[in-house]
Amino acid sequence: MAEIKLNSTSITLKEITGTEGEKAFDIGSLRNETGYVTLDYGLKNTAVTKSEITFLDGEEGVLRYRGYPIEQLAEQASFMEVAYLLIYGELPTSEQYEEFEHSVTTHTLIHEDMKKFFEGYPQRAHPMGVLGSMIGALSSFYPDVLNPDQSQKDMDRTIHRLLAKSATIAAWSYKNSIGHPVMYPQNRLDYSANLLYMMFGMPTEEYELNDKTVSALNKLLILHADHEQNCSTSTVRVVGSSQANLYAAASAGVMALWGPLHGGANQAVIEMLQQIYDDGGASKQNVDKWLDRFKDKESGQRLMGFGHRVYKNFDPRATIIKKAADDVFEDLKVNDPLLDIAKQLEEFALNDDYFIEKKLYPNVDYYSGLLYRAMGIPTEMFTVMFALGRMPGWIANWKEMTEEKQPITRPRQIYTGKNRREFIEMEDRN
Ligand code: CMC
Repeated sequence: MAEIKLNSTSITLKEITGTEGEKAFDIGSLRNETGYVTLDYGLKNTAVTKSEITFLDGEEGVLRYRGYPIEQLAEQASFMEVAYLLIYGELPTSEQYEEFEHSVTTHTLIHEDMKKFFEGYPQRAHPMGVLGSMIGALSSFYPDVLNPDQSQKDMDRTIHRLLAKSATIAAWSYKNSIGHPVMYPQNRLDYSANLLYMMFGMPTEEYELNDKTVSALNKLLILHADHEQNCSTSTVRVVGSSQANLYAAASAGVMALWGPLHGGANQAVIEMLQQIYDDGGASKQNVDKWLDRFKDKESGQRLMGFGHRVYKNFDPRATIIKKAADDVFEDLKVNDPLLDIAKQLEEFALNDDYFIEKKLYPNVDYYSGLLYRAMGIPTEMFTVMFALGRMPGWIANWKEMTEEKQPITRPRQIYTGKNRREFIEMEDRN
């Protein structure tokens, strides 16, 4: 219990404790009883929901989906298994898995009319813009989703369609950007293999899948699959809270993810490393110069891929990705000069007082871009890969919120504009 005293009023707030001991006060009655609201820029101190999906302890570097540690899932599960876990709450039995994978696989085709959309985008269109708008457009092809009172069966079909078709749209947006013919999905392949096939296969020759690349992609997708109430997931919940359909909510999620402070950071990291490389490479003098720039607020540049709202010790996903990147670099015999710069920069930053004091560590995006690069994925597709990975998390959050019938999200504000004043005729204005 907590007591808040405001002038002559005093109210008691109920304490809420999560299953991992996180504590909150329920301020649901605050405004009614006191006339006050809370102000919390960036919602840094505000839990917007209770959720059973993902647990994250930023101080200890812990991430668990439905209770399962991310380290175990990344090592032992398939992306589709993790998608099922996030969306339906439990790891699937072999029968459930077969049914789920079959259903997702058989929904990978997109309507032929949608294929024509690609012709309308400029060839240099960023694939995130294409992905977001085309996911939103799915609602025009499946208008049954406009009814917010869907049966469980209909909701499942919409979920499976979204998981399946977003991968096809993503791969085709890439094909379109390079002027290559699109590759139709292959139902014999699993999700990760199929995605690589649709991105890199050609109608003119056999596409040979590399097991190591498929497995690295599977791991990357799992690591991105959910991250509790991050910016894009909150966006999905906000949009979904108006009972907008799942495609609309997921499309908004893609757009929110695009920003360089969120999922767009993986592209920004590579662009930053390339700038440092062009400017003199991994020499101590050059890296020091850039670090100084990142510490100087006036420069407007941050060390991309460093820092996190929640992780203040280490990002467990970054640890797994760094190891996976080292393995893939060795297996594929990739020699990327940007990797040397990344390692040098990381070492210097981790020993620098500015980064130590502000608890800034490499996050998931610091090494994921290098790993995507080693796999031959072009820079503009990095955030798209993140979006595909995050899709099960968005869906799980949308489903949880919808099933709980949570109220529409409608925050308050503190108005700081002009007080009431009278209208002035145009000729009297100066
Ligand atoms: N480089 C230099 N300074 C930084 C950085 C950075 N990467 N990140 C934070 N700071 C400083 C910031 O200037 C501020 O300093 P001061 O207290 O003197 O004003 C302090 O550290 C706290 O930063 P903040 O922006 O108030 O912290 P936040 O929790 O609002 O932001 C963040 C978190 C991830 C947006 C931020 O750390 C950042 O911009 N990082 C670079 C972008 C990035 O890598 N984003 C990917 C995040 S992980 C994947 C995902 O969630 O999508």
